[in-house]
Amino acid sequence: MSAAGAATVDAPAQRIAVVTGTASGIGRSIAAELRGEGWRVAGIDLRESAECDLSLVADVTNAAAITDAVRRVEQRFGAVGGVVSAAGHYESTPVGDVTDEQWRRMLRVHLGGFLHLARATLPGMLARGSGAIVAITSELAVGGGGPGDAHYSAAKGALQGMMRSLAVEMAPRGVRVNAVAPGPTDTPLLAADSPWRAPDYLQTLPVGRLTRPEEVALCVAYLLDAGTFCVGETLNPNSGAVI
Ligand SMILES: NC(=O)c1ccc[n+]([C@@H]2O[C@H](COP(=O)([O-])OP(=O)(O)OC[C@H]3O[C@@H](n4cnc5c(N)ncnc54)[C@H](O)[C@@H]3O)[C@@H](O)[C@H]2O)c1
Repeated sequence: MSAAGAATVDAPAQRIAVVTGTASGIGRSIAAELRGEGWRVAGIDLRESAECDLSLVADVTNAAAITDAVRRVEQRFGAVGGVVSAAGHYESTPVGDVTDEQWRRMLRVHLGGFLHLARATLPGMLARGSGAIVAITSELAVGGGGPGDAHYSAAKGALQGMMRSLAVEMAPRGVRVNAVAPGPTDTPLLAADSPWRAPDYLQTLPVGRLTRPEEVALCVAYLLDAGTFCVGETLNPNSGAVI
C-alpha cells in the first residue's frame, strides 16, 4: 500500500509468471517473450511446455489441479506477480449441431480455466497488493463473429465480461486485470485448410496477413509490465480485422 493508503498498480514487484497454454502457439510465444524480458515463467498445459523455466502438466478445467500447480510454482520460485490465461481450443460447428458436451467443454476451458487460474493466484497477489493478470480472449469477442463460431464467441465474450468486472474489483487492491483479443493468428489452432488462411480472406485484412503469435505476446508483456495505466483494457492485435 502507498503512504496515501491506495494500493499500487505499478509493474508487479515479483517477476514470476504463470502462463497457461504454453506448449503451443500464443502461450508458447508469451513464455518466450516474458523470459526474454527477465521473467521466470511457469507454464501449465495438457502437454509439456518447452519454452518455460518450469513445465507443469494440468488441465485448466480442473480447479484442484490448477491450485496445486500454482502452489508448486510458489514453492519453486516464490511469489507470483504475472498471470496469463492462454489455454484454449477452437472448433467450427453450426450452432444447431453443438453438442452439450462441446458447449460445456468450451465454457469450462475458456471461462473455467481463467477463473481457476485467477482464484489460485489472487490470494498471494492481494496479500502483497501487487500483480497483473491477462486473459487471452478473441477478436470474435469484440467484433465480427461468424458461422460456426457461436459457442466459441459466447465463451470468449463472457470472458471479456469477467475480465472487466474482475478489473474493477481488483484494481483498488493493487492487481490489474486486462485482456488481449487476437484476430486470426498463425498457430496450430488454425488448421491448414482454415478459411482464415485462405488468400481471399487475407486480402480483406488491412495488414494483408495473419497476426503473428509473437505480436500477441508483445501485447501481453506490455499489459503485465509497462501498461500500468491499463485496467479492464483490451488490446487488439488483429491485423486490422476489427477497427
Ligand atoms: N490462433 C488464433 O487465431 C486465435 C485467435 C484468437 C484467440 N485465440 C486464443 O488464443 C489462445 C491460444 O491459442 P493458440 O492459437 O496458441 O492455440 P494452440 O492450439 O496453438 O495452443 C493452445 C494450447 O492450449 C492448450 N490447452 C487447450 N486446452 C487446455 C486445457 N484444458 N488445459 C490446459 N491446456 C490446454 C493446448 O494443449 C495448446 O498447447 C486460445 O485461448 C485461443 O482461443 C487464438
